[in-house]
Amino acid sequence: MFGSIAPIYARVDHSLIKGYKKSIEVVKKEIDLKDKSILDIGTGTGAWAMKFIQNGASKVYGIDLSEKILKAGREKHPEITFSIGNAEDLKEYPDNSFDIVTASFVIHGVKADRREKMLSEMKRVSKKHVVVHDFMGKTHYFVRFLEFVERSDYKNFKKNFCAELKIKFSKTKRIASDYGSGIYIGEI
Ligand SMILES: C[S@@+](CC[C@H](N)C(=O)[O-])C[C@H]1O[C@@H](n2cnc3c(N)ncnc32)[C@H](O)[C@@H]1O
Repeated sequence: MFGSIAPIYARVDHSLIKGYKKSIEVVKKEIDLKDKSILDIGTGTGAWAMKFIQNGASKVYGIDLSEKILKAGREKHPEITFSIGNAEDLKEYPDNSFDIVTASFVIHGVKADRREKMLSEMKRVSKKHVVVHDFMGKTHYFVRFLEFVERSDYKNFKKNFCAELKIKFSKTKRIASDYGSGIYIGEI
């Protein structure tokens, strides 16, 4: 589905980068991003990945299932290394490959069993932090409609994700950002 809306994503990429300002500030207060290596899963056009580059990360990689959306990302952000990949099976990356593994508005889209796979893989390839930028708190009615159309699992995500994170990580944090979003951090 995301392949077919790639042109829309390419158009809103700039607005997404602006809209993610508060959320990356939240991350920066918790984790020093300078010279860190980052893997952004479900990167889309790389809007969230760009926030890490703008805040001092040294090397940023983005993977996505959709080649169309990656093509749009490569045209916009040559500083990101984009490649095809499935967040549920990051077999191309050995354990502890990146300082931080992150995902922005990806994990709420799938049901609990697939969330578990994504989180396990994110943890495996990260040396220290897993950072999830996603729904938190009240969701705008228009966004609720979109999530209904997409048949995402955002309601259960909001209800259960903190507990799911705590099963995998000894140290976790949940910090609200703006526009019904927030940052979930798992530390290894
Ligand atoms: C809502 S978009 C978010 C894009 C970007 N992270 C952002 O915040 O701007 C979700 C993206 O996740 C990708 N995606 C969904 N499931 C995935 C999976 N299992 N592996 C990799 N990418 C996935 C989709 O193709 C889509 O580009």
